Amino acid sequence: MTNEYIGVLDSGVGGLSILSELYKIMPDKNYIYVGDTKNLPYGTKTPAEIYSFTKDILNYFLKNNVKNVVIACNTTSAVAYDKLKKEFENRLRIFPLIQSIASSAIEGLKDNDTIALLATRATVNSKKYEQEINKINPKIKVISIDCTGFVEIVENRLYSCDKSIELIKSKLDIAKNNNAKRVILGCTHYPYLVDIFKKILNVEYFNPATSLAKKVKKEINFIGNGEIKFYSTINPDEFKKSAKMFFDIKDDVELISF
Ligand code: DGL
Repeated sequence: MTNEYIGVLDSGVGGLSILSELYKIMPDKNYIYVGDTKNLPYGTKTPAEIYSFTKDILNYFLKNNVKNVVIACNTTSAVAYDKLKKEFENRLRIFPLIQSIASSAIEGLKDNDTIALLATRATVNSKKYEQEINKINPKIKVISIDCTGFVEIVENRLYSCDKSIELIKSKLDIAKNNNAKRVILGCTHYPYLVDIFKKILNVEYFNPATSLAKKVKKEINFIGNGEIKFYSTINPDEFKKSAKMFFDIKDDVELISF
């Protein structure tokens, strides 16, 4: 048994959709989860800002017995991972999201099929999904849809408000009009919304969480005791409420600053 931890990070509660899968298949590991709610949403920030937020979290992990980090955030994986990897590679093993799951996202699709990507503005602008998918199969067409606003629906629990439904519908219409065979939940907050998506557009939704968790499991072999520490950088009580769908957190979520 060791007091080593796996560090998991996101801008808010979204990454819990990843942590829940990690915990499901590796309940014996220890985890530290950081939701950087003070700087949320990452999706409308610049790559330099996102890099700087994440760097602070990685430095915190380094001081707290973390050797493996799961970037449970598409946006960070898209715009900051390459730089972070170079800077931290001798000290931390980092699992990025998009780069780890691109091949699973298109499994079973054929040449000329269309896949729709729902993601934050920063992820869409980075074209990271297109690059990673087209490296594997250049004939898959990726339609990227900027879903700015979805993260706030999740963080503020505005699921049933008319405005939220209207916004979601307008984005899913783009996937529908392009005859998408599959839709990627390209932001870790979106699995919170998938039941609403399914009522509006009946298509296959790909949640990267399962594939990412399996990849991580292959590489990690320390034995812990299943401890999870939750931190957020502002309003920990709100974090706890919004987290409910993936984690019914019994203990306090602790406030942290870097
Ligand atoms: N959940 C994150 C992602 O996967 C970031 C969302 C945001 O803060 O904009 O992209």
